[in-house]
Amino acid sequence: AEYDTAGHAHFLIKEITEQPAAVERTLSGRIDERFATAHLGGLNMDAREARAFRRVKILGCGSAYYAGEMGAQLVEELARIPAHAEPASEFRYRNPVIEADTLYIAVSQSGETYDTLAAVQEVKRKGGRVLGVVNTVGSAIARECDGGVYLHAGPEISVASTKAFVSTVVAFALIALHLGRVHDLSPADGARIAAGLKALPGQIREVLEQEKEIAALAAKYARHEGMMFVGRVRGWPVAREGAQKLKEISYVHAEAYPASELKHGPLALISPELPTVAIVPDDELLEKNLTTMGEIRARRGQVLMVGHTRPEAKFTEDVILVPRNEPELDPILLTVPLQLLAYHAAVALERDVDKPRNLAKSVTVE
Ligand code: AGP
Repeated sequence: AEYDTAGHAHFLIKEITEQPAAVERTLSGRIDERFATAHLGGLNMDAREARAFRRVKILGCGSAYYAGEMGAQLVEELARIPAHAEPASEFRYRNPVIEADTLYIAVSQSGETYDTLAAVQEVKRKGGRVLGVVNTVGSAIARECDGGVYLHAGPEISVASTKAFVSTVVAFALIALHLGRVHDLSPADGARIAAGLKALPGQIREVLEQEKEIAALAAKYARHEGMMFVGRVRGWPVAREGAQKLKEISYVHAEAYPASELKHGPLALISPELPTVAIVPDDELLEKNLTTMGEIRARRGQVLMVGHTRPEAKFTEDVILVPRNEPELDPILLTVPLQLLAYHAAVALERDVDKPRNLAKSVTVE
C-alpha cells in the first residue's frame, strides 16, 4: 500500500496527508521526558563531544537545503550555537574551510543526491565530522556519514518533497533540543519544546482539515502570472519552500524574498498581477510584517496571509490560519498550507503533479 496512491488522486496528496503519522514516527522513542531532552543514539556522540562544537554547518540541495535553513534557526535558537545552511551543490564547488570544531550535518530524503554526497566526502576528506539527516535507510549518504538521525517518514514517491521535508525539520528540532540541553537550554524550556513537538501531529491534522478552503484559494491565485512569497526570520525559510513547491509542480513563477528586503528592490514588481503570500507568525515581528503587507496593498498587490491571527481587512485579501505551537516550532505548521496551495494550484492547472517536467526524484549525477 506504501507504493500505490491508496485511493488518493496523486502520491503527493497521499504524502501530504500522511504527515501526522510521519512526524509521529520521526519522534517515536526520541523524547526523554525525565530530562526534558531528546534521545538520539545514532549521533554516536557523548555530551562532552556535543558541547565541544562551536558551529553547525548544514548541507543539502533544494528542499533539503530549505529544511536545513529551518534546522539552522532551531539550533541557534535552542542551543545558541551559530548555525548556517548552505546548498551542498555550491559547497562542493568552492574550496570550503573545514574546521574541527564545526559539526557538519548533511540532509537528504533519498540519501543518493550526488551533490550532497560529494559535499559529505569533501568534509570527510578534510577531517570534519558529518552527521546525516536522511530518510532512506542504508543509502549512500547515510553510509558515508559518521552518524545521524533517520527520519522514518516512509517512502516518498512524488517528486516534490512534503512529508520528508516536515520530518526533516522535526528531526532538526530533536537535534537542537539535544544540543540545547548539553548547553544552556533550561529543563523548563526543554520540556516546553518537547510538549510542542508532541502536539505537532494533531495540529498538522487541523491544517489538513482546511484543504477545501485552500483548494479554492489555489484556484483563485493560480491564474496569475507569478507569485511573491515573503517572510521574516522564522517565516523566511517557509517562504522559500512555499515558492519552491509552487514552481516545481504548478510551473507558476514564484519568487521568495525576506519581507525586509522588499523595499530594496522587488517592491517594483508588485502589481495586481503579482499576488504575495505573506508568512506571518504571531511573533515579535508581527507588526513589521503587517507594515510590509500594508506597503504591498498600497501598490495594489493582493496579499494572502498565512499566520495565526486574522489582521484588519486593510492588510490582507485572504487568510489561512494555522494553530499556534511554540514560536521556535511554528515554521513546521506554517509550511503545511503552502504544500496544499501548491498541490491544488497544480491540479487546477492540470499539471503532471507527481512527475513534473524536467525533474527527477533524486539527482544522482553531477
Ligand atoms: C523537492 O521538492 C525537490 N524535488 C528537490 O529540491 C529535492 O529536495 C532535492 O533534489 C534534494 O533531494 P534529496 O533530499 O533526496 O537529497
